[in-house]
Amino acid sequence: MPVLSYNHMKILVTGGAGFVGSNLALRLKRLPSTDVCAFDNLRRRGSELALGRLRDGGVEFVHGDVRSRSDLEDVGRFDLLLECSAEPSVQAGYAGSPSYVLDTNLQGTIHCLEAARTHRADVIFLSTSRVYPIKGLRGLPVMREGDRLGLPVDASGPGWSRRGISSDFPLSGHRSMYGATKLASELLVEEYRAMYGLRAVVNRCGVISGPWQMGKVDQGFVVLWAARHLFGGELHYAGFGGLGLQVRDVLHVDDLCELVLMQIHDLSICDGQVFNVGGGLERSVSLLELTGMCRHRSGRQLEIPGHPETNPADVPYYVTDNSQITAASGWVPRLSTDTLLDDVFSWLRRERALLEPILSGPVGSMPAVPVKS
Ligand SMILES: NC(=O)c1ccc[n+]([C@@H]2O[C@H](COP(=O)([O-])OP(=O)(O)OC[C@H]3O[C@@H](n4cnc5c(N)ncnc54)[C@H](O)[C@@H]3O)[C@@H](O)[C@H]2O)c1
Repeated sequence: MPVLSYNHMKILVTGGAGFVGSNLALRLKRLPSTDVCAFDNLRRRGSELALGRLRDGGVEFVHGDVRSRSDLEDVGRFDLLLECSAEPSVQAGYAGSPSYVLDTNLQGTIHCLEAARTHRADVIFLSTSRVYPIKGLRGLPVMREGDRLGLPVDASGPGWSRRGISSDFPLSGHRSMYGATKLASELLVEEYRAMYGLRAVVNRCGVISGPWQMGKVDQGFVVLWAARHLFGGELHYAGFGGLGLQVRDVLHVDDLCELVLMQIHDLSICDGQVFNVGGGLERSVSLLELTGMCRHRSGRQLEIPGHPETNPADVPYYVTDNSQITAASGWVPRLSTDTLLDDVFSWLRRERALLEPILSGPVGSMPAVPVKS
């Protein structure tokens, strides 16, 4: 790995008490001569559980909101911004006003980029596979292959093949407020690069999972599935006929940390690029397959009814084609889906007292937990 391109580095992780942000902040704090500041408004239930971990790992915590430009100004100078704050649910705005997702994911990005411009800091932006339009993804010729859907072996089209979806997948069509705010943010990252000379990379991630994800129905399904098997509670196979055949690839958060470390070590190799990043075909699972893996690890067989109605934002199949990021950096995901589930189950067992009140219960319920610092 090349030598770190900074002498003494201060990293600002927005959304730093969230699942991805806190895992990254703690990993990056272990780099030599590095200060890390986690900035978060603790909007996500369970993010308050990160505060003790961050403190024990030597990460400074700032309670702030990316919707407030002055909150970011108060942080002071930094050399690198990891933008991990978000309303990360694709369902955001469907049941009411989209103002929170717009203000956080779009106006918040602008405030983050302004702070980066002021300090001439580098930017690593966490984007999402949800930038790809719903209609385009629903139009893929998926077929049933046993307990899952799959793409035909020899077929391919613009931006897709059996390997998965590449960053060349066509972008026209609607994609949810979540996806639109992320795509708009990506465009702004590019404008800030071009106009102000920032160095920046965009990682368009598929599903990420691992310990300390506060899984809920609309985001973090792997942890939700595991927790409901271990602690009890309801689960449904929702949409696409209610059979649980829908497929996602899942990236272990530790693999994402390794990629970000590589990018920090030499940002010049990926400056200005947009990469699809995910677990890839080998690390993809259907809900039915996930149920089998969770049943095996928990010893509990849940009745999981099917709800055939499909949510307007849902897609039956998404698998990341990592070819572009691998060609640019050599990075490949290393941790298997079995390792991911083993890690999630040991974390749930170890932290049961803390996590059971949050992660068990009826579908969609996320009881509040007291703030613990
Ligand atoms: N987890 C995934 O599967 C996944 C997949 C693709 C992309 N991403 C992206 O990765 C990033 C991190 O996602 P995550 O899974 O850690 O989600 P998360 O919800 O666990 O973390 C997001 C954090 O942002 C904080 N936040 C929300 N609004 C804020 C605001 N206005 N100001 C400051 N902080 C605010 C929340 O409290 C939370 O701690 C997001 O940008 C998300 O879109 C995640």
